[in-house]
Amino acid sequence: MAGKHRDTALVSAGRQKKYTHGSVNAVIQRASSLVFDSVAAKKHATAHRAQGELFYGRRGTLTHFAFQEAMTELEGGAGCVLYPCGAAAVSNAILSFVSAGDHVLVTGSAYEPTQDFCSKVLAKMQVSTTYFPPMIGAGIAELVQPNTKVLFLESPGSITLEVPDIPAMVSAVRAVAPDIVIMIDNTWAAGILFPALAHDIDISIQAGTKYIIGHSDAMIGTAVANARCWEQLREHSYLMGQMVDADTAYMAARGLRTLGVRLRQHEASSLRVARWLQTCPEVAEVRHPALPGCPGHEFFQRDFNGSAGLFAFILKARLTDAQLAHYLDHFSHFSMAYSWGGFESLILANQPEELQAIRPAERLPFSGTLVRLHIGLEDCDDLIEDLAAGFARLRTA
Ligand SMILES: Cc1ncc(COP(=O)(O)O)c(C=O)c1O
Repeated sequence: MAGKHRDTALVSAGRQKKYTHGSVNAVIQRASSLVFDSVAAKKHATAHRAQGELFYGRRGTLTHFAFQEAMTELEGGAGCVLYPCGAAAVSNAILSFVSAGDHVLVTGSAYEPTQDFCSKVLAKMQVSTTYFPPMIGAGIAELVQPNTKVLFLESPGSITLEVPDIPAMVSAVRAVAPDIVIMIDNTWAAGILFPALAHDIDISIQAGTKYIIGHSDAMIGTAVANARCWEQLREHSYLMGQMVDADTAYMAARGLRTLGVRLRQHEASSLRVARWLQTCPEVAEVRHPALPGCPGHEFFQRDFNGSAGLFAFILKARLTDAQLAHYLDHFSHFSMAYSWGGFESLILANQPEELQAIRPAERLPFSGTLVRLHIGLEDCDDLIEDLAAGFARLRTA
């Protein structure tokens, strides 16, 4: 992104003539076989197959190269690997850097399937995992073992939204074990609100399914690596058969063009709704990283350059199952669905004991039901009216 403002980079990245062939967007090149004109051309393609030369569909086509180049520029890395979804990006990034007998450090606020992958799949391969409280800060260094190969971060934390002191953690770990590969699930920040690689993180992972795709109609994962980790991540992911179809890579690149505008609207609307929630008597706590009161808000202010549309609030009460169903079943503008990052607003709830069960590394400091919202691009007045009607339902439940 050197020399360009972020919005300009989002519009122009990956749109070189070699990819667009005279149109505005990169061409959609669907291919398994890529045909060589001569033995010499085949030899050249084989020698340069990892450097953006057309070789075989699994190594990518012009459509993939254009999107990969865009992501590499936007996140300031040496290269970007594409995966069929965010979960594949997480698991393959970790797998690319561990062997039997190794140890990984994973934040206790990581996306639940990330934790399950470590506890269920890595464990089978004799790779052990230590989960740590997300707000551990420089204390993370004490958990490093001689066989620790990966530190896996996520910021803000999935569901509970706390913002860790990433610079303190990274420098503490680098001081005791400079070779550990540090990765982050950077999905909330869409890879651009938190410049992970500039904070000495090796690999920035995204479920592009969320903000990059932006329309809840496709899945993709991305991992942008620095020069130290790029080759190993690329080759190991390739050997594990990771690839995405050209149409999805095209849609992801198209999503980048409006990402800046969408994020600004998600940010403005989510802040307006969050501030309104702070005034509601039913609400004990609002966890929006950009608002005071969210754990780690001071780190957010220091390290991020904007916020997104996903946040949570905690009710004073723990709702019963019947109250929860009465509350959630009747929203007009909030749909209940996993995932987030699209143009539409979403709502999900978690009971405190459910969250505590997947966060054994810490004692969660709340006892009410947690509601997670993704604020989409609807008019805020309609969303607030919908949420107010939800509280009115609770009073009669
Ligand atoms: C923070 C985070 N990371 C990773 C993923 C996984 O992404 P995908 O659904 O594309 O596999 C999700 C999905 O909800 C997520 O919320």
